[in-house]
Amino acid sequence: MIIYEKVSRSVDLRKFDGKRESGSFDIDYDKFILAGGKLIHLKNVTKIYEQNGVVALDDVTIDINAGEFVFLVGTSGSGKSTLMKLLMHEEIATSGEIFVDGRDVVRLSRKEVPYLRRSLGVIFQDHRLLEDKTVYENIAFAMQVIEAPNKTIKHSVEGVLDIVGLRDKAKSFPSQLSGGEQQRVAIARAIVNKPQIVIADEPTGNLDPNTSREIMDIFKRINDAGTTIIMATHDKDIVNRMQRRVIAIENGKIIRDQLRGRYAGGR
Ligand SMILES: Nc1ncnc2c1ncn2[C@@H]1O[C@H](COP(=O)(O)OP(=O)(O)OP(=O)(O)O)[C@@H](O)[C@H]1O
Ligand SMILES: [Mg+2]
Repeated sequence: MIIYEKVSRSVDLRKFDGKRESGSFDIDYDKFILAGGKLIHLKNVTKIYEQNGVVALDDVTIDINAGEFVFLVGTSGSGKSTLMKLLMHEEIATSGEIFVDGRDVVRLSRKEVPYLRRSLGVIFQDHRLLEDKTVYENIAFAMQVIEAPNKTIKHSVEGVLDIVGLRDKAKSFPSQLSGGEQQRVAIARAIVNKPQIVIADEPTGNLDPNTSREIMDIFKRINDAGTTIIMATHDKDIVNRMQRRVIAIENGKIIRDQLRGRYAGGR
């Protein structure tokens, strides 16, 4: 009973219902309760890389609600990418709890991994596009691997190409695109399966300020449409301009978590 009371206070039921209506969401309600009604819930998470004994994350506790836009900031080696890899089950936490979209990520069975990956769209700094496939094929591929029907694929790929403004480049190969355009393809690919959450690791790392701004506008629109975004960045201007939640990590520990934060602490 006590657990139930706690959950009913913290769940944004409207958003939660919206997700269910979209048909893309199949939640394990017990897990959702364990996660305290949060879309993403980390409690006392520590990650030690066994190969070298590095403590990449040290007793990290974070809750993220559906619809939030969260920046992860911190110097190189502070643990940002590690945190993202734990969320997507690319690395496994040494201790602690992690729930993502109603799934217990630490104890995820192999069978459940594809379902977790479907709720996550992931964008890397080096975009990882397939060089021998066109823009269209790169994006379509993300739907083929989850066995989406062909007619859904065409409709969805064209839709996301419009969102990122690349309809006229559908037949180009990645090597024929600028860095900013390639990053747009990576975004399109990450959102084509309509994930609940988009994880972006330094998506503007190699781009000039104007192109970065355009890329950020795309992320803003995706977030306005209800997708939760977690973005690691070293880009001070972007973080200060957006005024969204900022989580600062240093040596694997959360040193700051502000709702309308700036890149550096203070005012
Ligand atoms: N696969 C790995 N094996 C061993 N140690 C690792 C591994 N990946 C990262 N580390 C170490 O863990 C720590 C955190 O690394 P991480 O990549 O999470 O930092 P980061 O905040 O993303 O840095 P950057 O801003 O440079 O991308 C670093 O000390 C790094 O050397
Ligand atoms: Mg990193």
